[in-house]
Amino acid sequence: MDKKRKLGVAGAGALAVVVTLGIAATADAAASTLGAAAAEQGRYFGTAVAAYKLSDSVYSGILDREFNMVTPENEMKWDATEPSQGSFSYGSADQIVSHAQSHNQRVRGHALAWHSQQPGWVQNLSGTALRNAMVNHVTQVATHYKGKIYAWDVVNEAFADGGGGGRRDSNLQRTGNDWIEVAFRTARAADPGAKLCYNDYNTDGQNAKSNAVYAMVQDFKSRGVPIDCVGFQSHINSASPVPSDYQANLERFAALGVDVQITELDIEGSGSTQAENYRKVTQACLNVSRCTGITVWGIRDSDSWRASGTPLLFDGNGNKKAAYTATLTALGGGNPTSTPPSTPPVSSSSSQPPIPSGGCTATVSVNQWQGGFVATVRVTAGANGTNAWAVTMPLPSGATVTNSWSTTRSGNTWSNVSYNGRIAAGQYTEFGLQATGTAGTLSPTCAAS
Ligand code: G3I
Repeated sequence: MDKKRKLGVAGAGALAVVVTLGIAATADAAASTLGAAAAEQGRYFGTAVAAYKLSDSVYSGILDREFNMVTPENEMKWDATEPSQGSFSYGSADQIVSHAQSHNQRVRGHALAWHSQQPGWVQNLSGTALRNAMVNHVTQVATHYKGKIYAWDVVNEAFADGGGGGRRDSNLQRTGNDWIEVAFRTARAADPGAKLCYNDYNTDGQNAKSNAVYAMVQDFKSRGVPIDCVGFQSHINSASPVPSDYQANLERFAALGVDVQITELDIEGSGSTQAENYRKVTQACLNVSRCTGITVWGIRDSDSWRASGTPLLFDGNGNKKAAYTATLTALGGGNPTSTPPSTPPVSSSSSQPPIPSGGCTATVSVNQWQGGFVATVRVTAGANGTNAWAVTMPLPSGATVTNSWSTTRSGNTWSNVSYNGRIAAGQYTEFGLQATGTAGTLSPTCAAS
């Protein structure tokens, strides 16, 4: 564990023991790049890379200074790697992989099977011929890169948007519902060392689409279909803001026994609003132990597929934006005293005296789906702040808790954990739980000390 950020642990019931979030980064210089700061948190920080830009020295200068994971933006897709059947073309993708290898960067492979960016010959196939072509494609490409890929997006964007919660119609889907698991089993056989991920967009909060992906992952885990990770693309804009349950959503997937990764992050906007959104997403990943890394979908705003939305961390000239500083700071890098702490409820020091109790309030929001729900409880400190809190919240009979985060439970009582007991006056922290059954009306009450 990073010595600079080791958490002090409050003894059970020892309310006078104040939690320490060791922002004691005074002894060592904070990491000054995204990759180094993420590495200190046991994570990576990556970017999408276009091979034809590697000769741009501003581009590759930033790439090699800041990032320790790369995803080929288009070069490993089916149209690029197998432009005609059985004839493989790896030039541009190899260029990215060898650049990465010589700069201590790992590679996320993207993407083996996808309804989009198929070469024309694939678009014209169906049935068994298409299934066989997919299996051969996955085998050939994963074998070519065997041992060089940290994680593969084996299947990309296979679920439908909207409320239906089903699979997206595509030529691959029409080869049979098992096409996804066949792709995963084939990838595992070709490169057993690579983590195998399912990757999608609009799955960044809990909704019908992410619930459908969740059910698939749960099913795969229960039947032994090889899956190691789920990628959340996180293309954020005003029509698709950072969901309030972003972290809870990552948590529930992680609880299924897969890693979670933020795979194509870009956030349209500018200035402090954009910076705050980057901070939130970064902090959410850090708060989830199985969130192994973040990849942004390009380097400079001008490199983005949504360039007009200026959604990235560097401006068109390669200058660091406010969003960059917020991200680096959230990762614990840069100068931690230059911006406010990233998580309001958890800044304190072991030398501070306990705060007199001023009470607390609790509110709950529920996301219910057929057969289960996630409840997110917000604990807000009263006038004096809290040292510790306990929320009483009975669940209806028939509801069975399968997972909870940022809390410890004893029956109907949900208490703070070591890092979120101390809340400043008027500020809040959140915890969550996932359960089977029906939430009904939940009525949390809060007690503080
Ligand atoms: O290379 C050709 C160029 O020769 C030609 O002149 C030009 C004319 O349009 O097109 C160029 O190819 C474009 C390619 O990007 C490279 O710039 C394609 O038309 C264009 O469709 C392609 O867009 C890519 C898009 O995926 C395709 O679906 C974006 O770069 C890429 O950022 C985007 O990435 C996807 C992820 O793979 C999956 N998740 C969503 C994400 C954003 O759409």
